[in-house]
Amino acid sequence: MPERMPYIAGNWKLWGTRAQAGEYCQKLLALLPEPSRRPAEVGVCVPFTSLEVAVKALAGSQVLVLAQNMNAEETGAYTGEISAQMLLELGADGVVLGHSERREHNGETDRALQEKVPAALEAGLRPILCVGESEEEREAGDMERKLRHQVGEGLHEVPDERIADVVVAYEPIWAIGTGQVATADQAQEAIAFVRALVGGRTEEAAQAIRLLYGGSVKPENAAEILAQTDVDGALVGGGSLDPEGFARIVAAAG
Ligand code: PGA
Repeated sequence: MPERMPYIAGNWKLWGTRAQAGEYCQKLLALLPEPSRRPAEVGVCVPFTSLEVAVKALAGSQVLVLAQNMNAEETGAYTGEISAQMLLELGADGVVLGHSERREHNGETDRALQEKVPAALEAGLRPILCVGESEEEREAGDMERKLRHQVGEGLHEVPDERIADVVVAYEPIWAIGTGQVATADQAQEAIAFVRALVGGRTEEAAQAIRLLYGGSVKPENAAEILAQTDVDGALVGGGSLDPEGFARIVAAAG
């Protein structure tokens, strides 16, 4: 069975002017152990305008810098959009795709994600594909149907041999920004289900792909969630804005 390197990514959402980003990255680097002693791969998902600052501040540190969205097209009549090439030019390593907040507020669709995920991979960006059910869907017993749909669509156009290069973050919508973290059992159950879905494509990819939990992860609850068999890391929103707390979450992956 392949060893899956834990992965902790901090999603700043709408936070981080260039000045704040630079200061944050310096503080974070001072708090993280040197790369060879880190228990997890670490990434920060920053606003477009702060990508360049974060890339420079984190150069040589092996902390990954990700954008929070991209368009699948290289160029065209898409006002306000950003392409993979534009992100690469700034030195971005990856991109978050399909976050539930973008699905809810910005019209992000599974159809668009079907194109975005392979487009990111082909361009050389490492995507984090976000999936997760709402509270109503969970209560109606529809969690598995929702995950099957979102994972199926998001990976549909990804060739089998590239599936393990995608990271999937399971983020139940009811746990995002609410302080209502999923129990470790709930996280394990849903993420094991996602792994089984990937296994429906290829068993090799299912063993290698990294699956994260997201939703109210904090230094206090990280260790228990990260200890679950199928949980390979965390996508951390609010809890990542304090570099000290974020560094503690990274340490909890050890
Ligand atoms: P949260 O956000 O940690 O603030 O709940 C997680 C996310 O949206 O990625």
